[in-house]
Amino acid sequence: MKKVLTGIKPTGEIHLGNYFAVIADILELQKKNTEIFLFIADLHTLADSTIDIKQTHKKTDELVKSFVALGINPKKTIIYRQSDFPQLTELMWVLFSITTFPHLQRSHAYKSAVASKKIPTLALSIYPVLMASDILLPDFDIIPVGRDQLQHIEYTREWARKFNKQFGKYFKEPNVFVKDDIEIMGTDGRKMSKSYKNTLPIFADKEIIQKKIAAIKTDSKGRGEKLNPDKCNIFYFYDLLTNDSSSLREKYLSGSVGYKEAKNELLNVFMNKFDDSRKKYNKIIKDANFTEKILSKNRKKINKLLDRRLHEIKILVGLRKK
Ligand code: TRP
Repeated sequence: MKKVLTGIKPTGEIHLGNYFAVIADILELQKKNTEIFLFIADLHTLADSTIDIKQTHKKTDELVKSFVALGINPKKTIIYRQSDFPQLTELMWVLFSITTFPHLQRSHAYKSAVASKKIPTLALSIYPVLMASDILLPDFDIIPVGRDQLQHIEYTREWARKFNKQFGKYFKEPNVFVKDDIEIMGTDGRKMSKSYKNTLPIFADKEIIQKKIAAIKTDSKGRGEKLNPDKCNIFYFYDLLTNDSSSLREKYLSGSVGYKEAKNELLNVFMNKFDDSRKKYNKIIKDANFTEKILSKNRKKINKLLDRRLHEIKILVGLRKK
């Protein structure tokens, strides 16, 4: 059975972009014969100086609850948290021995920190090594990622090759599955991203979602004019959220709908689509033990796997007797 890993940093509220890029995919995979691991990359938040690290535990809690509310079944998808497993950082130390600093300095994250005149912290500089540990230690086959993460996976494959050459064949090179089609547009027309403040958060209060929808940029055509659905951000979201957008399309083309009404219709389909999930989320968000119960259930199983693999690695590199 193929093992698939999806990693996500607990930094913000789950939004429509995450839903179509990450969650919808897992919901599909859950129906197939695949072992899915969903991994909260909380240690990676320490490499990001732009976020409030003190909130990480809270964001992690909200993230796990969002996953479950959206239909991820913790019996089928193994949800775990990076900082519960020190084996991952231990392998990172081993990988350091085959890592050079100039190699890390070529990473996008490092270069963009330098370009913005920031002095990169060590955590940021070595981020790709930790990510390689995340993938190599538990032995994953497939990593679905967005294009922005491609370099990290390429690095991971390089470390796997280098390790195998130096210490003996052990790691397999993970395959990426690049999800090009899932770049969801934000309310301003750019890629939906928390850092652009152009998201549609799934579990926010209705008033907030309404405000965000109201802020969707359109051209200046007035009521009564014919509108082009294929060049309209409102219609884009509407079409994404419903199976049948043909009647709104007709109204656009015939000029019988204005942008304001289209926004109301969009709000309706949004609230409809996520109605069950929002009810579930609002219920479980108050449960203080919910997340811990899920995480602790998987801890034993994953510890066993990671301990075994780390021991085998220690033998290979010569830290332990065969
Ligand atoms: N770097 C990823 C991101 O920012 C998160 C991540 C950390 C990850 N470790 C991973 C993703 C391992 C996939 C596999 O989105």
